[in-house]
Amino acid sequence: MAKYNFESTKIGFIGGGNMASAIGAGLIRKGILKANNVWVSARTNRTLGFWSDLGAHATLKNGEVFDNCDVIFLAMKPHMLEDALDSLNATRSHKHSPLFVSVLVGIPLDSLAYKLRHIVEHPRIIRCMPNTPMMVGEGITVYCSLNTTNGDVDMIETLLSYIGVAESIPESLMNAVGGLSGSGPAYAYLVIEALADGAVKMGVPRPMATKFAAQVLVGAGKMVLETGRHPGQLKDEVCSPGGTTITGIHAMECGQVRASMMNAVEAAVKKSNELSSKTK
Ligand SMILES: NC(=O)c1ccc[n+]([C@@H]2O[C@H](COP(=O)([O-])OP(=O)(O)OC[C@H]3O[C@@H](n4cnc5c(N)ncnc54)[C@H](OP(=O)(O)O)[C@@H]3O)[C@@H](O)[C@H]2O)c1
Repeated sequence: MAKYNFESTKIGFIGGGNMASAIGAGLIRKGILKANNVWVSARTNRTLGFWSDLGAHATLKNGEVFDNCDVIFLAMKPHMLEDALDSLNATRSHKHSPLFVSVLVGIPLDSLAYKLRHIVEHPRIIRCMPNTPMMVGEGITVYCSLNTTNGDVDMIETLLSYIGVAESIPESLMNAVGGLSGSGPAYAYLVIEALADGAVKMGVPRPMATKFAAQVLVGAGKMVLETGRHPGQLKDEVCSPGGTTITGIHAMECGQVRASMMNAVEAAVKKSNELSSKTK
């Protein structure tokens, strides 16, 4: 990953909330980005104090972010995009063509390009679907792009790889993958909480139960990723005949855990498709 030196790259965030913090603050804290090369704008001061404290430039003018940055993350809620772009247009002082990186859920590349047409002709856009575990360097970002150069894509993939896994996918899969990677952390938190509840019911103190339940998911995830073995095989390897674990697995199957997980991903993807069709 040493082929880019991000020390001089000027990166902007229009919208300074949760997602901008997960990406920008994560990269600043890791020393990948220099805080004084980061510009952040928002509608009010609500999120801006956080960025000033970090040493970044915080402003109420979206145009100031546009004027100063080579790469601009669009990190407001999707329904706030048009207002944000209008105010960017009204407060910028010159023309140039930065790379736009959108984290907005459900807004396709062609519709982003259409909305950006008053600001830049043929805008270079990367559309990302990140997730919040980026905050701890274990995120997943899938992305697709429009009008970009190989250098643009390579640079953003390198940048995002510092805070997790970053992979290009066809735009047609964006919502489907988002139902797993974007919503998945919430499903995993629920599983951690439920496993901990089981242990608490059996007498384990709550802090210990939560810590061990979370570590079980971390450990199992690493086993799948690092051994390359199928999860079914890994599960079989810890189920001795007539033993405790297979008894637990039977209880899970009676509770239809597999169907519930599949239904959760399917429901999230359907909802995302529904929202995308409304925001086009
Ligand atoms: N949270 C997630 O897990 C997640 C996952 C994947 C993608 N996303 C996407 O990430 C985006 C941001 O979500 P979030 O959770 O970070 O939202 P958030 O915490 O509510 O932050 C939104 C930010 O946008 C600013 N904003 C609103 N209107 C603006 C305008 N006209 N000009 C400039 N800034 C404006 C807000 O400023 P004020 O506070 O001053 O209004 C705030 O700083 C969304 O589009 C969402 O789809 C989120």
